[in-house]
Amino acid sequence: MTRVAVIPGDGIGVEVTREAVSALRALAEASGRPITLDEMPYGAEHFLKTGETLPQAAFERLRGYDAILLGALGDPRVPDNRHAADILLGLRFRLDLYVNHRPVRLIDERLCPLKERRPADIDFVIFRENTEGLYAGVGGFFKKGTPDEVAVQQDINTRKGVERICRHAFEYARARGRRKVLMSDKSNALTYGHDLWQRTFREVASSYPDIEASHMYVDALAMQLVKDPSPYEVIVTCNMFGDILSDLGAQLQGGLGLAASANLHPGQVGLFEPVHGSAPKHAGRDVANPMGAMLSAAMMLEELGRADEARILEAAVTDCVRSGRTTRDLGGPLGTRAVGEEVRRRLRTS
Ligand code: NAD
Ligand code: IPM
Ligand code: MN
Repeated sequence: MTRVAVIPGDGIGVEVTREAVSALRALAEASGRPITLDEMPYGAEHFLKTGETLPQAAFERLRGYDAILLGALGDPRVPDNRHAADILLGLRFRLDLYVNHRPVRLIDERLCPLKERRPADIDFVIFRENTEGLYAGVGGFFKKGTPDEVAVQQDINTRKGVERICRHAFEYARARGRRKVLMSDKSNALTYGHDLWQRTFREVASSYPDIEASHMYVDALAMQLVKDPSPYEVIVTCNMFGDILSDLGAQLQGGLGLAASANLHPGQVGLFEPVHGSAPKHAGRDVANPMGAMLSAAMMLEELGRADEARILEAAVTDCVRSGRTTRDLGGPLGTRAVGEEVRRRLRTS
């Protein structure tokens, strides 16, 4: 029996997760392979009511699941985003989910904002280092709130952390028949931290002679991804650059509503979530696109050894996109729930 913990979180996270969960239930019913989906209340509402972000006991329980499916965290009533830091970043760090796998794949050329780009031109993955960098939370204030205030945010790059994400990128390329891995950094300016990335990447690359290894500075890569995304297959980069490039990548495939991600530590419990946030202005209006959440659920099924169901779910989403049965962000006429129903209808008949 597959056991999944579900944290819908805040804003549209709740609405898109509801549809992803219903799709998983429909798939399990059709395949006859049971799946338990246990919902947990952690998010802004729970925090404001109880003062709890992610209690230790809940963290321990989450560790015992096969996977965690998350919606999004972020609420204007919690301006410092404290609960999101504890829950989302907390899970990534404390479960040591060092791989943030964010695929970018154009499924319908009408959705690409670039001219004359076909699905074959946009098909790459970003591996974002997910446990260190500028996100490590190392730093502090000095003389906070005074005119002499100093704020320090340290960029943490460890040999072990850089090496394991680079190695994961090459292993993925080899396993998936991809021929190229590109590392992107800013070593021309960040001459210590990203010098470590340069040396580590080259060393890891030397054990994969069958894969072409290359490098680009992140500013140039951002430009190239808009000019011509077709040469890229596997991109590996640090936490912050991966965050930024994955929103850029999301738009190349049609927008944040479609972008999926997996936070992984191979062999351990993974966390699956759409790339987008809680989009407060769309919350509660039945307009959010649930497809990014559904495609994240498909990534989860794949990791759980249920690849056949993952393919069926992806195919159902793809068919809805190609036939225009989508929410408004993709140009369709439907609401969140109606898209969920369209996908489920395809799951039942496939
Ligand atoms: P966002 O991703 O929530 O939304 C940005 C814009 O993208 C939206 O206004 C909307 O136009 C579009 N969009 C995003 N998801 C969509 C969907 N499913 N369907 C249709 N349109 C969609 O980013 P933001 O506005 O910068 O952040 C809002 C809150 O979410 C903040 O509190 C932020 O910290 C948080 N956030 C959380 C996560 C996460 O939980 N993984 C990720 C990003 C942002
Ligand atoms: C993401 C989000 C998070 C991040 C925020 C909410 C902290 O933008 O998952 O991409 O920066 O990692
Ligand atoms: Mn982001």
